[in-house]
Amino acid sequence: MSQQFDVIVIGAGPGGYVAAIRAAQLGFKTACIDEFKSKEGKPSLGGTCLNVGCIPSKALLESSENWERIEHKFAAHGITVEGARFDIKKMLERKDGIVDKLTGGIGFLFKKNKVTSLFGHGKLLSNKDGRWQVEVAGADSTEVVEATHVILATGSVPRALPDLPFDNKLILDNEGALSIPEVPKKLGVIGAGVIGLEMGSVWKRLGADVTILEAAPGFLLAADEAIAKEAQKIFTKDLGLKINTGIKIAAIKPGKSNVKVTYTDSEGKDINETFDKLIVAVGRQPNTWQLAADGVQLPLDERGFVVVDGNCRTALPNLWAVGDVVRGPMLAHKASEEGVAVAERIAGQHPHIDFNTVPWVIYTSPEMAWVGKTEQQLKKEGVEYRKGQFPFGPNGRALGLGEVAGFVKMLADAKTDRILGVHIIGPFASELIAEAVVAMEFNASSEDIARIVHAHPSLSESLHEAALGVDKRSLHS
Ligand code: FAD
Ligand code: NAI
Repeated sequence: MSQQFDVIVIGAGPGGYVAAIRAAQLGFKTACIDEFKSKEGKPSLGGTCLNVGCIPSKALLESSENWERIEHKFAAHGITVEGARFDIKKMLERKDGIVDKLTGGIGFLFKKNKVTSLFGHGKLLSNKDGRWQVEVAGADSTEVVEATHVILATGSVPRALPDLPFDNKLILDNEGALSIPEVPKKLGVIGAGVIGLEMGSVWKRLGADVTILEAAPGFLLAADEAIAKEAQKIFTKDLGLKINTGIKIAAIKPGKSNVKVTYTDSEGKDINETFDKLIVAVGRQPNTWQLAADGVQLPLDERGFVVVDGNCRTALPNLWAVGDVVRGPMLAHKASEEGVAVAERIAGQHPHIDFNTVPWVIYTSPEMAWVGKTEQQLKKEGVEYRKGQFPFGPNGRALGLGEVAGFVKMLADAKTDRILGVHIIGPFASELIAEAVVAMEFNASSEDIARIVHAHPSLSESLHEAALGVDKRSLHS
């Protein structure tokens, strides 16, 4: 007799493991299947995010920023560091240690919540009499387990360029970009998206000469234009990243120890460059590889995403899907919230996720974070709005930190004053955006934020001043 469950989750990333814990909390007998293996070949829970995404990238960003502080910022504090060096091996070990701690923590949470953790490749076999049969193919054995509900949380994988497979020696995906054993002299990055900018910044700060090649005609087109413009200025002038937009790749030829890239720049000029390593970060694609047996008609759209309704329900009975494998932004917090909502829906509850208030953060230095509509979106939609913008330059806390670049911009409806979007580039933007998310969830007006007491001196005062600025009454500009 196969193991019987109420809920089976396939995938233990932030969508799947959170869904499994919530389902177990709600009293369901729950199993979570995952096949991810660490570099040492051991099962490692947490998916892309914990193993080769959000967490290791933030660890390396911090290490590289510390190095930059020593090299360029401590002098202004009157601190001289002589003979400073960094040890890339230790840096990578620290990153791996953080990953181990968090991935191990999920095993602990599974035990605590009585989630059965199954290691292997999960595949939907069939649905008989209202029960799903799911195959779990491990290295040594294969078993079939059963449940009434299945939640697909199989995430995404990096998209390769045609005829250019990742080898993680010369042609690197996110996993390779997070584990380069020595700082390359010349690093090429294809794609000036989130990964390209975060990983490009890390290796630039550690000493690589970094060139980012971007096909789109402009820089960070999804961000608010003012934020993107400020970011591009800082990344090119201060950090020294070379960012070429509007390029067209003609050929990429990996050799023995370097990669030759031929491309046409935005003015139509042909350019040849040779890089020691090439990161390819041109987006990710949903992962549905061998997820369903031939008899199961898994509903996929033309881009390969599992088709779901607004509540993450597929057209098949009691089959749900969350996270990167379905529509919407590929973000860990979006995946987790969907996981929680599905578990609660299975329990007969009526949770709601407001996709308009999912925050975006890019963890460069300075960080960028935003929620809601950009100014260009509001213009396009013909929405009348008022705008308040306040820089970090005159902010006492930012001056103390020595991090004065950037600003906060708030957009509010011209008639109702309801906040429509908040865009931040500056220190700890990732933390500051939370106030804007809460405000928008509660349908706050800019006046609400303007009337709230903000601690002094704090970075949040720039958000306060931006809110005052919507009514043209900023106090410190
Ligand atoms: P995943 O995390 O991809 O997990 C899916 C899991 O399912 C994996 O373990 C996979 O091995 C397993 N799996 C797949 N198919 C099967 C199968 N058939 N059987 C068994 N197991 C299977 N997002 C943020 O919000 N903030 C960040 O700072 C951030 N930084 C990132 C940095 C990088 C370099 C990358 C690559 C991504 C980053 N992301 C970030 C995005 C984030 O990692 C994803 O949005 C998030 O991991 C999606 O969660 P998920 O649960 O849908 O899928
Ligand atoms: P992305 O979608 O952010 O950026 C890809 C970039 O590559 C785009 O600017 C695109 O125009 C460009 N591009 C596509 N094809 C190209 C080509 N042939 N030549 C040159 N440029 C090309 O994707 P990325 O950076 O791979 O990241 C994937 C996803 O992972 C992100 O969209 C995000 O959802 C998630 N992520 C989130 C992070 C965060 O929240 N801080 C950090 C890293 C990743």
